Formats: sequence, C-alpha cells, structure tokens
Amino acid sequence: MILERRKANTIPTDWSAEDEAVLLTFLENESFDAKLLKTLFPNRTLPSIRSKVRKLRIKHDLFGASYRDTKEKFTEKIASEVKPKIVFDAYAGAGHQTFKWIARANTVYASELMKSKLKQFEKMASDHLFVKIDTKDCTWNLFQKDDKKIYLFIGDAVSAAAELKVNKVVVDLIDLDTCGSTLPTLPTLLVLLRPKHLVITHGEFHSMRFKREDVLRRLLVHRDIGSNPLPMGVDQMSDELDKAVKTAALRAHNETSDSFWLNLKDEIWLGGRIHGMLRRYYKVSKPSATADCINELSSLIKHA
Ligand SMILES: C[S@@+](CC[C@H](N)C(=O)[O-])C[C@H]1O[C@@H](n2cnc3c(N)ncnc32)[C@H](O)[C@@H]1O
Repeated sequence: MILERRKANTIPTDWSAEDEAVLLTFLENESFDAKLLKTLFPNRTLPSIRSKVRKLRIKHDLFGASYRDTKEKFTEKIASEVKPKIVFDAYAGAGHQTFKWIARANTVYASELMKSKLKQFEKMASDHLFVKIDTKDCTWNLFQKDDKKIYLFIGDAVSAAAELKVNKVVVDLIDLDTCGSTLPTLPTLLVLLRPKHLVITHGEFHSMRFKREDVLRRLLVHRDIGSNPLPMGVDQMSDELDKAVKTAALRAHNETSDSFWLNLKDEIWLGGRIHGMLRRYYKVSKPSATADCINELSSLIKHA
C-alpha cells in the first residue's frame, strides 16, 4: 500500500514564550486534555499542540510524571530480583531510573542525548548525595558516592554503548526506557553489550493509538513492511511487540549462536492500557537451534 508523505495543512506558527509558559503551567498541573487545550490555543492544530506537549514534557522532566512511581517500583523490583552489578541506562533523562538501579548496582553507565538534561541529572545526583568528580574526561561525567559510581554520557545511546564495548565493559542489564521506540537500535545494543537482562519500555502504543501506519510499518521489524498492521488492539499490539523484540534479538548477529533468545519474565502497564505503555523485563539467553526459535516465534500469539 502506497503511503502519502505527511505534510502540515496549515502554515506553522511559532510558539511565543507566553504561549509556551501557558502550556507549561497547564502541563505541570493537569493531565493532557485535547478539548481543553484546543480551547486554550484555538488557532493551533491538535498535532501541533501534541508535538509541543511532548517536547515540553521531555525538556522539563514532566514526561510520564503521572506513572513515575509505578515505573520506579518496577525498576526496584527487577533490581532486587536480578541484583545487577553493572547497568547501562540508555535513555537516562533526568536519571529517575538511574538512581533506582544504583541503589542495587555498583556502577551505572547512563546516556542521554539532550545536553540540557545534564543540569537535571546533576540535581538528582546531589539529592542522592552523589558527588560530581572532575576526571578531565569530556566524554563521561562521573558521579560518586562511597564505592558506587555513575558515568553519564551526553550523546547518543549507540555511541555510548560502542564506547563501553571498546573499553571491554561487561554489562549485566540494559534499560531501554525511551519515550518512543528503541526497536531499531535493540539488536545493535544487544550485540555491543551482550547483557544478561533487558528492561524495555514500549512507547509504540502511542503510534498505534494515533494510527501512525508509517511509524508502525518501519518499527515492527518482524512484519512485512509493505502491509498495514492497523487496525490493531492493545492485546495484539502487546503480542506484536513481544514478537518484534524477540525477532530482533534472534537476528542481532549473523550467527544464531552469537545472537540472543529473550524470555519475557515480567511486565507492567505505565499509565494504564487505554492511554499508557508497557515496560517489560526479559531474561537474555543463548538461542537453541534456529528451527526451534523460529517455530516458537511463529506460534507466539498470547492473547488469541
Ligand atoms: C522517557 S525519557 C527517559 C526517562 C528516564 N529513563 C527516567 O526514568 O527518568 C527518554 C529520554 O531519552 C532521551 N533520548 C532520546 N533518544 C536518545 C538517544 N538516541 N540516545 C540517548 N538518549 C536519547 C530523551 O532526550 C529523553 O530524555
């Protein structure tokens, strides 16, 4: 099926500082309400408001604030079960999960793309009594408390993982807590770090709800890119994501034996099934015979 390029139907209007301030105050006090926001900004389209909301939430550390407790409790639960010594927190943001992992681990390597997050991360470190150490290393920022160390890389998660690989760092667990999707980078991160455990958050549910066929056709790597996966319900999407993650892991390396087999051990809804997303914990193991893995993936329809 041929897709049309997405294009704006209206001439874009810059957000003034005043409008941004109004929206930020709204977001700090209320949850997203399309109707109300449309009345607050009558001259803007809903996609423009949605896009601004997303950017402001990330910038001001409001993203997922309503389910932060649930996410942190899940992280704590997995940390206490798995007891990882070294963690890679790929999408660290202000560090809410980083400081949950370090409560159990000795070292956390974290990466975050947005330079402006460093200030929020430093504040979080100081709240947790970690001290920033001047190592003269411009690549990794070091925060230390007793024998616990957190290294923060300001840049892309794949570049951070490549650095760790080159420096032969052995990682027990990787946390992929994106606001969107990490499916395209999953095999690379697995191959570079070869973790024993994976925690992954699935923001792809938003693409399903907004009927973003283009996004889903690109992301769902186990499906035919030429066909539309929509319509799809929450249960099917949950199954598709499980299959996508497992397929990406099985295809991570050119040899099956150097690829990965993922066992789904636990999951939690963040923000509920209607509006939210899934965070899942997988135990990573070696694949058995290729045929067995493919047979299992082919019959993987949990909610049928
Ligand atoms: C959902 S937020 C992270 C929340 C964080 N784990 C927490 O609990 O506080 C996702 C973060 O990933 C960052 N990000 C997006 N793409 C990235 C990339 N390629 N590499 C590193 N960070 C990235 C965003 O800037 C954003 O801060």
